[in-house]
Amino acid sequence: MKNNMEILISEEKLQARIKEIASEIKNDYKNQEVVFLSVLKGAVFFTVDLMKNYDGDCLLDVVRVSSYEGENSTGEISLKIPIKKENIEGKNIIVVEDIIDTGRTLKYLVEYLKDFSPKSIKTCALLDKKARRVVEFDTDYTGFEIEDLFVIGYGLDYDEKYRNFPYVAYVKNN
Ligand code: IMP
Ligand code: MG
Repeated sequence: MKNNMEILISEEKLQARIKEIASEIKNDYKNQEVVFLSVLKGAVFFTVDLMKNYDGDCLLDVVRVSSYEGENSTGEISLKIPIKKENIEGKNIIVVEDIIDTGRTLKYLVEYLKDFSPKSIKTCALLDKKARRVVEFDTDYTGFEIEDLFVIGYGLDYDEKYRNFPYVAYVKNN
């Protein structure tokens, strides 16, 4: 893969921006506790670094969704880990995603979580491919807007591989 890709966002740039997002969030919530709800598996790397830079009371929780995007591309989404009401009810939830693409995952999750009566709910995506949106959705916190490229690294996979790269790279189509 390494000779068929180009680095898009270096490790330094990622880390610097993540620090900024962490302060932005802290500034918004002040002394209120927040729950970082990480969307497995891709957002794991981002969530860890975000929390390490977060100077305030916070909890970690995870959620896992699967999307079926067959040839007819229904983009149907379902939850793969059940959510416990007590982990959401009355809490300030921040859904953390690696990337927002069509927007279906975050839109579905936010709608779904509302039934568990959170105190507030916001979304945070490291990357945003705005041009690819299929459903209308805007994140509250965004790391970087990127072009319509297939990206890997820093949690993002191609066939489950390359999540371990400390940077974000895009795959070149020769
Ligand atoms: P959405 O529901 O289309 O917004 O889907 C977002 C999900 O699609 C992300 O959580 C990723 O798992 C996946 N995804 C979208 N674009 C890319 C990419 O360029 N590389 C790797 N995964 C991607
Ligand atoms: Mg994902």
